Amino acid sequence: MAARKQARKGTVLTRADILAAVGRSVSRADSLPVLRADRARLRADFDALAAIGSQPSGGLMREAYSPAFLEARAFVRRRLDRAGLIARVDAVGNLFGRTSAPDGAVVLTGSHLDAVPNGGKFDGAAGVIAGLEALRTIVEAGVPLGKPLEVVGFVEEEGRFSGLLGSAVMTGRTAIDGLAGLRDQDGVSFAEALAGAGLDVSRIEDAVRGAGEIAAFVELHVEQGAVLEQAGIPIGVVTAIAGTHRLAVEIVGRADHAGATPMEARKDALLAAAEVVLAARKIAVESARPTARATVGQLFVEPNVTSAVAERVRFVVDVRDVDAAERARIAERVEQAIAVACQRERLSYRIANPMSATPGHTDPAVRAAIEEACRVIGVPFMRLMSGASHDAQNLAQVVPTGMIFVPSRDGRSHSPAEFTSLDQLALGTDVLIATLLQLGAAAR
Ligand code: HGY
Ligand code: MN
Ligand code: MN
Repeated sequence: MAARKQARKGTVLTRADILAAVGRSVSRADSLPVLRADRARLRADFDALAAIGSQPSGGLMREAYSPAFLEARAFVRRRLDRAGLIARVDAVGNLFGRTSAPDGAVVLTGSHLDAVPNGGKFDGAAGVIAGLEALRTIVEAGVPLGKPLEVVGFVEEEGRFSGLLGSAVMTGRTAIDGLAGLRDQDGVSFAEALAGAGLDVSRIEDAVRGAGEIAAFVELHVEQGAVLEQAGIPIGVVTAIAGTHRLAVEIVGRADHAGATPMEARKDALLAAAEVVLAARKIAVESARPTARATVGQLFVEPNVTSAVAERVRFVVDVRDVDAAERARIAERVEQAIAVACQRERLSYRIANPMSATPGHTDPAVRAAIEEACRVIGVPFMRLMSGASHDAQNLAQVVPTGMIFVPSRDGRSHSPAEFTSLDQLALGTDVLIATLLQLGAAAR
């Protein structure tokens, strides 16, 4: 009866009130209000963001520092302002919005605002919109905070230049001086892209946040795999995030006539590249590690003419695993395969390493807060690893970090087929709210 009476409009009923009313034990999470995301507002903001950079294919063109990216960031910034959060863009292009009080180390949430070319609408954006909605809901409920809450929209997570770049700079996880010369696949330098976005590459060090500025980080993200959907579980609690190690390979042979050049007289760069593509897959499969991945998703062939033997091929081998030593073993075997293929075809080659992100392991206390949030909300969850990389793996190297996954239909991502229902996103946002409250609400 007591619980029902308190449920009148205006009082915020906590789980503790309900548990106490029925004489059950109470945890910290129980003494906090159970708040829900505003579904209509979440959908409206998600749809508005998803429209920026959308293509007739249904995919997104919103690469880091592009006009579409800047428009998307401006849209989110307006929503941060409207929510009464203190908004700012840092020296590398990350967007932040934090509560005005109290001072001290922030509890940070969010994800990335850029997308892969022709990518899906949910990858990154789901976590930014969920973070915005979570902070709005908590501020509107007037919950007393012990730590400030902040939401971030990271830049350049998807690899226009290196990948995970905005969070790597913010966490001090990247050698700043090596960045200026990075170029995208069209030859645009990182410095030029920054300048086009009104930023100065000589100032990006200002974006680094010192130890102690961030108390914890929680990222909500679509799973991009099919584990949750196949299990029929709405929430994933991430245990580990695979680290990506990239081998940028250039193989050089000789352009020749496809008809006049005998098969045995050729120096065919594409033949060796094809052998490497097949070898990479074989090495990952033969590692017998369920978390090992090796992928070649892109080939640049010159002169790229049907009637000419390929002279030069550039491509990247994307090697991943949750264990850095095992990943190194796979990468080493891929490098050996490149050497063997090029020696056989009498070709020269070069291998560079533009990116190597350390695998991330989430923090037990943050995982426990997410799982407690699921219990408070009354939603089932399961623990799982992430084969995809995330900004959270950079944060996990420096602060207690956790990730909340929501399901991806058919496990599809990095494709216009990427889809998560608004109900699934809203439930994930409810769990995010309950997690942030445990990490940031004032002690009672
Ligand atoms: O490649 C990844 O895993 C991430 O989506 N950038
Ligand atoms: Mn992502
Ligand atoms: Mn992605």
